[in-house]
Amino acid sequence: MVDIHCHILPALDDGATSLEQALEMAEMGIEDGITHVVATPHANSEFRFDYDAVRNRRNELQARLGDRLLLATGCDFHLSVENLEKIRACPANYAINQKRYLLVEFADFAIPPTAEEALHSLQLLGLSLIITHPERNRLIRSQPQRLRRWLRLGCYVQVTAQSLLGKWGKSTTKQVEEWLDQKIVHFFASDAHNTAQRPLRLREAYAVVAGRWGESMAQSLFRENPLAAFEGRDLPYEPEIPSAPDPRTPHRKRFIFF
Ligand SMILES: [Fe+2]
Repeated sequence: MVDIHCHILPALDDGATSLEQALEMAEMGIEDGITHVVATPHANSEFRFDYDAVRNRRNELQARLGDRLLLATGCDFHLSVENLEKIRACPANYAINQKRYLLVEFADFAIPPTAEEALHSLQLLGLSLIITHPERNRLIRSQPQRLRRWLRLGCYVQVTAQSLLGKWGKSTTKQVEEWLDQKIVHFFASDAHNTAQRPLRLREAYAVVAGRWGESMAQSLFRENPLAAFEGRDLPYEPEIPSAPDPRTPHRKRFIFF
């Protein structure tokens, strides 16, 4: 399996606190059947994204792991005006494995009416956007039409493996199940921060998806799509976005953005 969202690099954010803990997380992932991990430190008002520091920490950890686990870097990119300014200088520094996919996280307390324009400005930088764990955002759960709008703009959806396992509450689990039924999920990832409460594990969620939605979908969401993002290729599994009744999203939107 391939994990595209993980806070494994030590002492950069609220993830691993030391190289030793990062190594423990890596061992946990290897044991779980994970072969590739994208280290995605936060870039938000609390944690500044320093690409050189990220690369140094990645190289240090990779040297300790040898070829047992392949590490790349990316960023857990918080959608803010400040970040939108910063990323312009070098979008690839923030992208998964310095290719084209970018993890984008929304604030829990407010989604600005200009969110679509912000997403579009990132797309104009050549980035393919992956909305991270929307199931954990109460605002997005309460406005499903907004997520559909972002999907129609060409964004993808990554959910957290633990969300499906009930670790973020019942309504979050239910939301993931509903989106899996609707085929609007493109990736599962760990969003691991440590070895205890937020572990680097995917296997248990994989088994749930394989059991209820089929082995092929599990392969797509835990292996094939994440590997394509890692390598900067088009996603092999990209079902058509079902057209849901959405009175606030007339078709003309497509013409504004494309
Ligand atoms: Fe994260």
